[in-house]
Amino acid sequence: MKANQNPIGFFDSGIGGTSIWKEVTALLPNESTIYLSDSKNAPYGTKNKDSILDLAIKNTEFLLNKNCKLIVVACNTATTNAIDYLRANYKIPFIGIEPAIKPAALKTKTKRIGILATKGTLNSALFEKTASTIDQQIIVKETIGTGLVELIEEGEIASKEMEQLLASYINPLVKENIDCLVLGCTHYPYLIPAIQKITGNQLEIIDSGQAVAKQTKAILQQHNLMHNGSASAKHEFYINKDKSVLERILSSVTSKTITETDF
Ligand code: DGL
Repeated sequence: MKANQNPIGFFDSGIGGTSIWKEVTALLPNESTIYLSDSKNAPYGTKNKDSILDLAIKNTEFLLNKNCKLIVVACNTATTNAIDYLRANYKIPFIGIEPAIKPAALKTKTKRIGILATKGTLNSALFEKTASTIDQQIIVKETIGTGLVELIEEGEIASKEMEQLLASYINPLVKENIDCLVLGCTHYPYLIPAIQKITGNQLEIIDSGQAVAKQTKAILQQHNLMHNGSASAKHEFYINKDKSVLERILSSVTSKTITETDF
């Protein structure tokens, strides 16, 4: 059977990867999707490489059992720790997401960029490799966003506690004279309004969502896997914790089902 009508799979440690899902489905509105929110195991960013790999394999197997034709690893931490393994061991194409330090390096005028990401991403060999490819005159200020994913998973996107925690990470970066801030975790685009409240418009905030969407389209075309039927797109979401926060951030999405299930 031709795989063109099969869905695109997505997984993340939680609800954050929906920031990527929104970009991909905006660019590819005819594609059906299955999104896996592994919220029970969030955060991934504090776990070791082997544990992250085991979780990435578990999520991949779930999506393969649902016949996904391509998987978007909508998580920087899982990408930087597991994508090489996934690509080597499964036949379908995988799209990964990495912190956008290359575009930031091309944009910065102060030659100083900030990056906010998880410990698991910043400590990964893949991140180190990517960072070594940019102009070495550029100073990259790395900050681990400890606690941010947990608050977002609780739906605390604009709370006082979130504002204070964010300010404790962002203000020191601003003092370092950065002019670009890279969001290296797919949960963080939901914090852009809160970040702008702290910094005004003085920083260019860069995330990888649109680039991932374009890459997904290019790889589908390259593998001759673009949806080509007339059926309208369906979107299934699976979450292994309470679904209320996910429901809230997807309130504008039509044609969707959200299922709480253990996996
Ligand atoms: N959304 C994940 C990422 O992009 C969050 C990782 C975590 O759960 O710590 O890295």
